[in-house]
Amino acid sequence: MNSPPILLIVLILIFHGLGSYSGPLVLDYYREKCPLVEEIVARNVEIAVLRDPRMAASLLRLHFHDCFVLGCDASVLLDNYGNIISEKQAGPNINSLRGFEVIDEIKYILEEACPYTVSCADILALAARDAVVSRGGPTWNVHLGRRDSIKASLDDANKYLPAPNSSLEALIVNFQQQGLDTGDLVALSGSHTMGKARCLSFRQRIYDDNSEEQLYHPRRGNTYRQILRSICPKSGGDNVFTPLDSLTPARFDNHYFINIIQGRGLLQSDNVLVTEDDEGEIREHVWAYAKNQDLFFDSFVGSMIKMGSINVITGEEGEIRRNCRYVNT
Ligand code: HEM
Ligand SMILES: *[C@@H]1O[C@H](CO)[C@@H](O)[C@H](O)[C@H]1NC(C)=O
Repeated sequence: MNSPPILLIVLILIFHGLGSYSGPLVLDYYREKCPLVEEIVARNVEIAVLRDPRMAASLLRLHFHDCFVLGCDASVLLDNYGNIISEKQAGPNINSLRGFEVIDEIKYILEEACPYTVSCADILALAARDAVVSRGGPTWNVHLGRRDSIKASLDDANKYLPAPNSSLEALIVNFQQQGLDTGDLVALSGSHTMGKARCLSFRQRIYDDNSEEQLYHPRRGNTYRQILRSICPKSGGDNVFTPLDSLTPARFDNHYFINIIQGRGLLQSDNVLVTEDDEGEIREHVWAYAKNQDLFFDSFVGSMIKMGSINVITGEEGEIRRNCRYVNT
């Protein structure tokens, strides 16, 4: 009998120990095939964010909505065509998800520079990182080598993308289904330090008088509630939007956590991290991040790498799309 491949075992242990192991993805995947890929994506995200500061938030969210549905495979980018039923029509995406044109533009340039080489799924992962950096957030090395799906799932988008009126329990289950734990839930929720939400997404939170949030912050949350009510009427005005982080809407920082401690989380799904955590473990994370931005940044990076490797397709599976909106014919 052969002796066990000790070296392999040791390597596996080391990779797991590093905490940023992301399955079959690798750093420098395009080093030979498309050496300028990171520069091209970074430059174009920078331009897009200069033109429209909110685009940073939108690009980060795009990667999240990709990864939670069939994995990080760019299924979110597919338009209705042939057998494809676009995820863009799903409840959490419709009239909400944005940034598709920015990805198209990057893809167009990459197809000129290195045709048939860079996947749309990798572009999403890189753009999300660059978007965070553009607003003062942490940077990290993005593991690459994702391939693009040849399908989309409207049903999964409706099922697996979390709703803003979720209970904490529902959020925990939702993240568990993706192999993410409560630590990831807290850290990644910190993404709501930038960007905006529509009235439709937070109306229930501001008009429900028996919400946990009301009981938890009877007075403190009140001024904020009044302000939100003046922005978001009881009916109508669904698409009026307001910043998720009212303190520093344009920056990627830890103010999200300070906000939710003070009852100033915009979405119910933000506030429940503090108000519904009976065990106190999640709340402890929230307090730790509110006090220490570096700690939040470290956790955020670890969780982004984890999220970015959900059900990726690699090797010979899937394809490299020529146009991110359509599968190759
Ligand atoms: C924990 C569960 C989550 C829920 C329930 C949730 C829900 C939402 C909702 C309802 C909006 C506003 C959409 C609208 O009204 O048009 C939003 C915006 C946003 N979400 Fe989340 N989200 C969650 C987690 C995440 C995660 C994990 C990320 C990133 C890794 C993220 C990034 C963002 C960003 C950046 C925006 C602003 C987008 C923009 O301004 O275009 N969210 N989210
Ligand atoms: C969340 O909102 C949806 C759509 O408005 C509604 O159908 C659902 O009952 C709400 N869920 C909770 C837990 O309030």
